[in-house]
Amino acid sequence: MEDVVETLTRGNVAEVKVLLASVALALGCYQLAVIAVGYGKLRVPFLAAPPAFAAHRAVGDTIALLLLCTGVMCVSVYGFEDDALVHAIAGSALLCVLAVKVSVERRDKGLGRFMPLLGLSVFALLCVTWVSSAGGFLA
Ligand code: HEM
Repeated sequence: MEDVVETLTRGNVAEVKVLLASVALALGCYQLAVIAVGYGKLRVPFLAAPPAFAAHRAVGDTIALLLLCTGVMCVSVYGFEDDALVHAIAGSALLCVLAVKVSVERRDKGLGRFMPLLGLSVFALLCVTWVSSAGGFLA
């Protein structure tokens, strides 16, 4: 798998990973704004709640795909290193909480009220994962 990742990124694994993670973080900020419109916490004249929810779902699925690709690249090339423990824990927790959020959304057995908590946890973990890797790389 490591060879596939190295070939696909032409040896620029860290750069591609930082780019993907940064796009995911930027889209994550968009997710917060758009879901605030969905819940009626933020009112803008050009966006109603139903399309805001639809946009949140579509972009959320895109972020999930980006994060999955980034996670696979990260683990296959770097593994779980001791000097990046915070990053490894935050990244793993991020994927787990996101998976829980998607299954709660799809099965909805009265657990819909946990969506804000799960959504905010996903965003917080995304920030920690980004800062503990891409942030340091860019600095
Ligand atoms: C980085 C932040 C976030 C990401 C990556 C994300 C991701 C997602 C994804 C992937 C889905 C669609 C699940 C599916 O395909 O079935 C979704 C739906 C949803 N999310 Fe988020 N989410 C984020 C933040 C939030 C926040 C902060 C909230 C609430 C405060 C929230 C509430 C919801 C709700 C209510 C839905 C269902 C939308 C509908 O009914 O159509 N999300 N989210």
